[in-house]
Formats: sequence, C-alpha cells, structure tokens
Amino acid sequence: MTPFKRLKAGVLAVSIAVSGAFFTAPDNAVQAAEKLTIGNMGEPASLDPHFISGVWESRIVGNMFLGLTTEAADGSIVPGAAESWTVSDDGLVYTFTLRDHTWSDGKPVTANDFYYAFQRILAPETASGYSYLLYTIKNAQKVNTGKAGPKALGVKVIDDKTLEVSLEGPAPYFVAQLVHYTAYPIPSHKVKELGKEWAKNKGAVSNGAYTLEEWTPNAQIRLIKNPKFYDADNVSINELIFYPQEDRSAVLKRVRAGEVDIQTDFASSDLKWLEKNMPEYIRIAPYLGVYYYPLNTSDEVLKDPRVRKALAMSIDREILTDKVLRTGEVPAYGFVPPGTGTYGQPSEVNWKTLSKEERIAEAQQLM
Ligand SMILES: *[C@@H]1O[C@H](CO)[C@@H](O)[C@H](O)[C@H]1NC(C)=O
Ligand SMILES: *[C@@H]1O[C@H](CO)[C@@H](O)[C@H](O)[C@H]1NC(C)=O
Repeated sequence: MTPFKRLKAGVLAVSIAVSGAFFTAPDNAVQAAEKLTIGNMGEPASLDPHFISGVWESRIVGNMFLGLTTEAADGSIVPGAAESWTVSDDGLVYTFTLRDHTWSDGKPVTANDFYYAFQRILAPETASGYSYLLYTIKNAQKVNTGKAGPKALGVKVIDDKTLEVSLEGPAPYFVAQLVHYTAYPIPSHKVKELGKEWAKNKGAVSNGAYTLEEWTPNAQIRLIKNPKFYDADNVSINELIFYPQEDRSAVLKRVRAGEVDIQTDFASSDLKWLEKNMPEYIRIAPYLGVYYYPLNTSDEVLKDPRVRKALAMSIDREILTDKVLRTGEVPAYGFVPPGTGTYGQPSEVNWKTLSKEERIAEAQQLM
C-alpha cells in the first residue's frame, strides 16, 4: 500500500491535523471474503500513477503496482520490485537489484521500466502534479523545470536487473519515498503501444497484486488478483471493488445495507449515531495529514503577515477538533504533523502557550 500524501506546499495560515475515521466490517467477515467492497470517496481522474494526486486514487493504484520498495503490514519499508540494494559510502548512490518478476502480461519487469517511468514523470511536458516528490534524485528538479535535458537525470540502467540512482544529497529516507506511486514502474511497451489510454481499460498492465478488470466511471472499479504477481500466494482476496461515493449520507445507507465492507470516511455529524447503533463498524485510526486554509498573498491585505498571523491566532482549533470533528484530530500549531517519520519534535508557533483571551487580544492588536 502507498502512504497517503496530502501535504502540499502552500501558504500556511491555519491548520488542523487530522486522524482518520472509517467503517469496516468485523475482521472475520473480511478475511473469509472472496471479494472486498470498498467505498472510496472520489472518482479517480486516472489510474496512471503519473496523473493522480488523490488518496482515493492511490488506494486503487497502490493495489496494482509495486515500486522498488514497499511497506510491510506494520508500515516498515521492505523490498518490493527490488529484492535488495546497496548504498555508496557517501550516501549518494543507490544500486537496486530487481527481483525476477513480470508484468501482468508476462513481460519481464526491467530496470528500463523504472528508468522510463522516472524520465516520464520528470519530463516537463508530462506536467505531472507530484513530480517534485522525486527531487531527491540528482538533477531531477533541473530536468523537471527544463533547465537540464533528460540525460542529466541521476538514473542509470546498468543491466536489465540493475538500476543505479544518484541523489542530490544524502537522504536516508529515499527508500521510503520509493513506496509512493510517483516511483512506480511504468510498462513502457504498453505506453508505446496505447499512449495515454494504457491505464484505462480492462487488462491494463501492472506489476502488483491486482490488475484492472472493469472501470465504469462514477459506478465502480473492479480489480482482480494478478496471477503473475510474484507474491500471489499471499494474496487471499480475489477481487476488490471500489465504489466512488462522495455523498456521505448515501455512503452510510450503503454500509447499513451491507453493500460495502470498508467505507473510507464518514461524516463527523454521524459519529454519535454510529457510536450508538453500529459501534462494531467504526474504526478511528491515526492518519497523517493536515487541514489548512491557504491564503492568496496576491491580495493587498493578505500580503501583510500581521493580518495572516491575526487570522491564524483567532481560529479556535480546540473547538474544531474536540466539538466539531471529534474523531481524534489534534489541533495543529505547525505544518508538520506529530508522528512524521524520523522528524523528531515538529516546530510549532510560539503563541501556542497563550490563552484564548490573550490570543484574541494580540490578534486585534495586529489588525
Ligand atoms: C508470504 O508467504 C510466505 C510463505 O508463506 C511467507 O514466508 C512470507 O512472510 C509472506 N509474506 C508476507 C509479506 O506476508
Ligand atoms: C489570487 O489573487 C489574484 C489577485 O486577486 C488572482 O488573480 C489569482 O487568480 C488568485 N489566485 C488564486 C489561486 O485564487
């Protein structure tokens, strides 16, 4: 599975860290299932890993593709399409050895499929929204912004099974970044054959646990187990069905009707009712993400940092987390959520310690 990346650069005004809230059927029901039905908030814009940015898209694509590394059930980073790798003494050069495995059409997955994917997502003309996540790779930003040609990119095919990646600087988190869909391999042979359509239809070639069986827009996406997946013996569910459904009260009806096993989100306003009537279906789990209001600093008034600070100080985060959202969210006084990898103690604004009255007084002063 891929990590859920929601953080985007933007003007920080006010933020509230979130936890997730979702429904699942009781565990034994899921384990015995031949198929798993998942209420998935949005309709995907694409299933091509280079043209997605949403958590709902990553849930589907993450079941179809396998990057060089992947996550174990406990979230630790383990070998994926690469069975092993070495790092140079200066921490700058990673050499990956690919495991023997094939695409779902039987063609071997090669180092060139990764080379092709990195070049494609970083090509300026691809205009991929999340390409900047790969700027850890040497010259990736220059290539992506047209300041260097594709040859400058720090990715090299040594042979079919060996890929060498050079970094801008030492980055021990690089192997964790590779879990993200921006670093999945792309079946170059299918893109050459089908162009942009390659990931749209039944049989779209992938190298992960599942392949696309059906995509009926705004109705359902069906994935079926990929018998060619290298670890297929460990894949116990044969079919995954994703229902796009943004209307949360409609979602609740489907859950109550037994139509979905997992619903990835529910309205906070339903929490009380759910706690009383369907307590066994609710799971509230930590979720790494930030809610924030970006402000447009082209605006003459908002350009003034005093105004932005006053707005940030006057939002009552505790009311929002404790009384409105109520699913374990923690008030955010900084942009990096607690629990972020090896980040240590995230920095927070120095006025966090002020009382509500003191904040309002200072905000009025600033205005
Ligand atoms: C897959 O199955 C094998 C053999 O049963 C087992 O050793 C291995 O730990 C499993 N892998 C995962 C990721 O569960
Ligand atoms: C920001 O404000 C400027 C000036 O009012 C406007 O032209 C621009 O479209 C706004 N940007 C966004 C992202 O809304």
